[in-house]
Amino acid sequence: MGDMGNNRNIVILTGAGVSAESGIDTFRDGGGLWEQHRVEDVATPEAFQRDPDLVLRFYDMRREAVQTKEPNAAHHALARLEREPDGDVLIVTQNVDDLHERAGAKNVLYMHGELLNAWCTACDARSRWTGTLIDRPTCPACGAPALRPDIVWFGEMPYRMEEIYGALRRADLFVSIGTSGAVYPAAGFVRDAREMGVETLELNLERSEGSSWFHETRLGPATEIVPAWVDELVDAG
Ligand code: APR
Repeated sequence: MGDMGNNRNIVILTGAGVSAESGIDTFRDGGGLWEQHRVEDVATPEAFQRDPDLVLRFYDMRREAVQTKEPNAAHHALARLEREPDGDVLIVTQNVDDLHERAGAKNVLYMHGELLNAWCTACDARSRWTGTLIDRPTCPACGAPALRPDIVWFGEMPYRMEEIYGALRRADLFVSIGTSGAVYPAAGFVRDAREMGVETLELNLERSEGSSWFHETRLGPATEIVPAWVDELVDAG
């Protein structure tokens, strides 16, 4: 594929599609419903205020489920790409699972938070959390029973945006994998990257909403098209 092999600094945006074949449901493919609730109705600060038990239970179930899942060939391929000696690879993920890390990736930026973290609304500390929050456990740092999932909800600011834009400015290639392009600011990265003169590639099961912005789109299941792309890039380099 052309001169992709000369690209050295790569920013990879991942979404739910990269974890779908690990058995983690995407947000918008199955109608986006969870026990009759739209995802947007559960994943907001207002929902948490209105019905904290509902929201805590939702994330407790997802936290429990993710610990039974395993990284797939797409996660492993991206970790392999990251280990290549030339250039930098930054994985910016919208996913809150830890499958990139469990596949061995080191350079993962969680822009929408992490399921396996609890965030204390009293003292702002973040703690590794594998159990439940519905029972209102106390914060390991300050002792307050004020923990919430460390998840960026609709209406909240994604994490580490400055770092992400800094990495895009230094990038030669921006790759979007397994995301529908429905949620901003991540959905706007492709346009931002193009304005910065960065090459752009989309890898997804179907065309995303912003598909026409990409220089190239390859369609298929992540476990097939991601390893194939990484092989190509590594061979070319
Ligand atoms: N391989 C590749 N892509 C896939 C696969 C697969 N096996 N299965 C599904 N997809 C694609 C779908 O075609 C879709 O375009 O993954 C995308 C998943 O889209 P969403 O469910 O909208 O997930 P995502 O884009 O990650 O959502 C963004 O929305 O709810 C918020 O904060 C949440 O981070 C999330 C954000």
